[in-house]
Amino acid sequence: MAHHAVEFATETLERVERLREQLRHHEHLYYVMDAPEISDADYDALMNELKAIEAEHPALATHDSPTQRVGGKPKDGFAKVAHSRPMLSLDNAYNEEELRDWDRRVHELLGFDTSGAKAAYVCELKLDGLSLALQYQVAEQRGPATLQRAITRGDGSVGEEVTTNVRTIKSVPLAVSAAKLKGAGLDESFEVRGEIVMPRAAFLKLNQDREEQGLAPAANPRNAAAGTIRTLEPNIVAQRRLDFYAYFLLRDGEELLPLQSQSLDALAAAGFRVNPQRKLVASMDGVLDFIAAADAMREQLGYEIDGVVIKVDSRAQQQRLGFTGRAPRWAIAYKFTARSAVTQVENILIQVGRTGKLTPVAALTPVPIGGTTVARATLHNADEIARLGLLIGDFVQVERGGDVIPKVVQVVEDAAHPRGTVEFHFPSNCPVCGSAVVRAEGEADWRCVNAECPARLREELLHFAARGVMNIEGLGEAVVAQLLDKGLVRSIADLYSLDGAALLSLERIGEKTSTALLEQIERSKKAPLARVLFGLGIRFVGERTAQLLAEAFGSMDALMAASTADLERVHEIGPRVAQAIREFFDEPKNRALVERLRAAGLTFTGERKQRSAQLEGLTFVLTGTLPTLARDVAKHRIEAAGGRVSGSVSKKTSYVVAGEDAGSKLDKARELKVPVLDEAGLDALLAK
Ligand code: IVH
Repeated sequence: MAHHAVEFATETLERVERLREQLRHHEHLYYVMDAPEISDADYDALMNELKAIEAEHPALATHDSPTQRVGGKPKDGFAKVAHSRPMLSLDNAYNEEELRDWDRRVHELLGFDTSGAKAAYVCELKLDGLSLALQYQVAEQRGPATLQRAITRGDGSVGEEVTTNVRTIKSVPLAVSAAKLKGAGLDESFEVRGEIVMPRAAFLKLNQDREEQGLAPAANPRNAAAGTIRTLEPNIVAQRRLDFYAYFLLRDGEELLPLQSQSLDALAAAGFRVNPQRKLVASMDGVLDFIAAADAMREQLGYEIDGVVIKVDSRAQQQRLGFTGRAPRWAIAYKFTARSAVTQVENILIQVGRTGKLTPVAALTPVPIGGTTVARATLHNADEIARLGLLIGDFVQVERGGDVIPKVVQVVEDAAHPRGTVEFHFPSNCPVCGSAVVRAEGEADWRCVNAECPARLREELLHFAARGVMNIEGLGEAVVAQLLDKGLVRSIADLYSLDGAALLSLERIGEKTSTALLEQIERSKKAPLARVLFGLGIRFVGERTAQLLAEAFGSMDALMAASTADLERVHEIGPRVAQAIREFFDEPKNRALVERLRAAGLTFTGERKQRSAQLEGLTFVLTGTLPTLARDVAKHRIEAAGGRVSGSVSKKTSYVVAGEDAGSKLDKARELKVPVLDEAGLDALLAK
């Protein structure tokens, strides 16, 4: 009997090892190499098998298993940890001359004359993120090195331990296998330093979500990444899709390998993401070529960079060069041309958006920033003007980030830039239609109350037609302006009664353009429900919410009939959004619009998701350690049965599932009289 048990365990153990190895391999291909070899479904299948085995045999679960990225308990704060060697910063160069000065100094200090030996340089991109140290250690002979601690830069000497959060970043290996260690020339312990970044796509998504929730957008990806890494909820970090690029390899605070270029290659061999845009060059000419190439591809990269870092390749030479106060002499950051400039605010204008929101915009004395001329910058809302203390006539610093609209960062004031004189008063009437403007309690924005304000209609049409919404190509600003001027369109639905004669009456529209536009409009009638919902411009209903609504209700009629309670039952939809949707459909004009669209032939094709549904509509909170189920597994089972797992207990929680050492969440459940289940209770619900 005992013999049999051991046999079985060995087999299971081998399977577990194999699964972990495969998952690590595929994670590396996917997250580090951007070259997946298997489908997401196949990956999920491997992951689910591993999760199931670990759930059944808790003794086999290890901290570095691919199942364990999120799972650590949310922490109360971050411990302060001293760095093995200070994390310094870099001196900057802003032009070729300053770079050549640095190059000359390096050669002088190394005792090389101009004709003699040269220092080779490694060029790397300067990622606009935050630096981080990762410490790895091998626990047993021939075992993998596992991630022990992740520490932020902090003040350079002492950082904060953010391991739980960093574990959720998929390009950070939780373990480096013995084989990889060998391949990379590593042994029992090492430290990797590099940069955490929030990719542009993740940043845009974050701000879209924030906007839908009525929150102020994050200023830039670096701030968003820094904020994310310091949140106390690892689940949130996991959703934000941060990335990590490695650039230093240390042991006991010293460089491990003789050349920086070797370190980068070793890091890549060990499975870290190392930026492929790196180059070993023999002289300043090579550096300048690299900089030109980096500048040219800058906007195409999936993340923001603010320059190029140039490092002396040889570790021996680095040691001879040493450090000044806060920066090494053996490296320098070449910074790209400023993304900000100082200019004067000539006036403050008000733009009226699709939802009637009034946005103040600074009209600026045109100024070139990073290759384009900037004449407008958003001021967001009245509070922002107050926060900046901005007067008309002030000189301001204006910044232009990657895809973001230029914004006013601060008012500058000195002898050359005297303060302005005219205070700006937010209008009490809509500048376009003259109707009253209102500001709802707790909101920063003023809105025009007139649902038929022409400014709103213009924005509504542009939004409806936009790419990613109804995709009506050719219906841009110029055409919309003319359609409105001529009174040909008074509502979105009027688009569907346009004919060739009407379009041909517009300027710069010929037979061909008109036919193409009519075809586009015709084609849009088949747009799925989610797109139409997004296109209607319901407050707080962005692309994602529209998708959720379409999946949950399946048809326009079901959605229009839904109560706020029905709406709130949808995963991720809160009371504010539910109310906005209900209000929209309660408005007779909006119902009439939907009916006109239907009569015009729009199909509102639904896409109801068929899922197993025994826990549909129920929300669970997990707390404490369950006797056999790992938290991830319990969460997965609940979700697979149509339920939802949330991080905090509220009146809306259906059940709290509590295990050993359950803490404040259990107290909260009792206080709010939320039913509490143990593992057996959860099993019983799932089995129903
Ligand atoms: S080397 C002592 N390499 O830039 C050497 N830094 O302005 C310091 N950074 O704090 C770091 N990309 O956060 C290095 N390829 C790269 C980098 C990089 C971005 C950041 C890093 C550092 C800051 C210095």
